[in-house]
Amino acid sequence: MTIVGARPEFIQTAPVTQAIRKRHTEILVHTGQHYDDNMSAVFFADLGIPEPEYNLGIGGGTHAEQTGQMLISLEQVMQREQPDWVLVFGDTNSTVAGALAAAKIHIPVAHIEAGLRSYDRRMPEEINRVMTDHLSDVLFPPTRVAVENLKREGITRGVRLVGDVRVDVVLGMVDKARARRAALLAQTRLTDGQPFALATIHRASNTDDRDRLKAIVTAFNTLELPVVLPVHPRLKKMLGEFGFAFGGNVRAIEPVGFLDMVALLDACQIVITDSGGLQKEAYMFRRPCVTVRDTTEWVETVESGWNRLTEPADFAAAAAAALQPPPAEHPDHYGTLGVSDRIVDALEELLPVRATV
Ligand code: UD1
Repeated sequence: MTIVGARPEFIQTAPVTQAIRKRHTEILVHTGQHYDDNMSAVFFADLGIPEPEYNLGIGGGTHAEQTGQMLISLEQVMQREQPDWVLVFGDTNSTVAGALAAAKIHIPVAHIEAGLRSYDRRMPEEINRVMTDHLSDVLFPPTRVAVENLKREGITRGVRLVGDVRVDVVLGMVDKARARRAALLAQTRLTDGQPFALATIHRASNTDDRDRLKAIVTAFNTLELPVVLPVHPRLKKMLGEFGFAFGGNVRAIEPVGFLDMVALLDACQIVITDSGGLQKEAYMFRRPCVTVRDTTEWVETVESGWNRLTEPADFAAAAAAALQPPPAEHPDHYGTLGVSDRIVDALEELLPVRATV
């Protein structure tokens, strides 16, 4: 049983679902955390993900309301279906709800994208990660850094380094995505070949803090190159509440599907973001990245000089540095194609774990 709910989980499950269904029966459960078509349905369509067997329709609300409702509904679905494994991804409220519901009724949990840490407990995602890792029977950290993070917390059993599932998704879609490039750029009033920064901002720590959001808006408005910004619902809501507006330099568009995101990554000069996944995708596309946070889970992108952390006030300098020629070295941090198949192989091999939990 695979639990998904938010955008990054749809992206990660695409190749895993395919790999599972070659040899096994999968029950796909969508919690409903992301419910707008452009945050959910378009990803299922772009990535060829099958219709979920269950859609729980639980979106919005506070953290406790959302997570609590998910726990109740997920437990019912798990009791009914009695899966051999529950699979969860990353760090969302859907992730922690899936892991906790399963662990309490003794269904083995596998955590894909385990072991990431920002060491910042003000992020809800960090709490979700720590909890999920400690509840899981099998853990698939994407990088060596993540393996070490788990070791520091005493988690060594059931840990398999197989690479990052995003490798299976992202690089396989470039050709298909390029076909959409011209239509997409027309929406942004940019010509093909014109340099631009691709930006996304959605973390509560940036959107919900008036001063930080103001600094971010000002920085985008005055950046030396145009900014293409697919606007997350939380950003839209908070811009409205604070009464901030983007200037002509910012090409604000609706949230885009995954193929369009790949097309934008392929076409852009640099990436500016507070998303976890996008930092890594920028690296895979060899695009320098500016991360508007004071921590990152993807430290290897910073250490190899392709990513820099910045405060909104220092934006311009960070963007200028990112526009310099990138480092000559581009180490292979995230593994090679076939990550999803290696995950399914491990789940088959480790299935007897159920007898021991
Ligand atoms: C969630 C994940 C985050 C992930 C991100 C990707 C948690 C704690 N965070 O953050 O790790 O990087 O998804 O986007 O799980 N909303 C809509 N339409 C939608 C979805 C959300 O209007 O389709 C609204 C919600 O009602 C809420 C806000 O947007 O007001 C934020 O949604 P929420 O589910 O809290 O999490 P994200 O910020 O999207």
